[in-house]
Amino acid sequence: MNIAVFASGRGSNLMAILNAIKEGKLNAKISLVISNNSNAGALEIARANGIDALHISRKQFSSDEEYVQKILNELKSRNVELIVLAGYMKKIPSEIIKEYPNKILNIHPALLPAFGGQGMYGLNVHKAVIESGVKITGVTVHIVDEEYDHGPIVMQRAVEVRDDDTPETLAERVLKVEHEIYPQAIKLFVEGKIKVSGRKVIIKDEN
Ligand code: GRF
Repeated sequence: MNIAVFASGRGSNLMAILNAIKEGKLNAKISLVISNNSNAGALEIARANGIDALHISRKQFSSDEEYVQKILNELKSRNVELIVLAGYMKKIPSEIIKEYPNKILNIHPALLPAFGGQGMYGLNVHKAVIESGVKITGVTVHIVDEEYDHGPIVMQRAVEVRDDDTPETLAERVLKVEHEIYPQAIKLFVEGKIKVSGRKVIIKDEN
């Protein structure tokens, strides 16, 4: 299966997915990496691994239509079947969501529906978690719909919040778990084991 990864930043989740592919744990190909940020580490990682890496930003186009068409053309020309957001800071236009129904995944560094939504990204999430006093946070992989951090949940893992955690120390432990579960969640899609029923994602039996 051809996958496209959209990323705005350093790209450690992209790296984790690439490693899973290299280690034979995930039978897929990353055919394209798109970033809205020309300096994204994710673009460098892609290029270093021989993957097409494109800087595509709304600012480069005179209309929303042209912008969306450019992205769709790049996806279609590579037969991309699954889009994986890995620290992508822009909203996915609804036309793209319609073209890829239940085929766009996102990873969020908390247990949704808590600590999600607009503005909840990066260290903001971990700061809010610590300030709230919760003892457990974690990682959520979900399907992307029209609202931020809202679509059906595919997989979650818990991470303990320690009394002496800072947003930085918590972010580091959560990120390790992200790297473990994102390739696992993607594998379920690649192997066709996912069924979406309303807000529920059902993982089909092996048999
Ligand atoms: C991760 O924490 C992810 O959960 C969030 O953005 C961060 C991206 O990190 N959506 P990286 O660019 O994959 O290193």
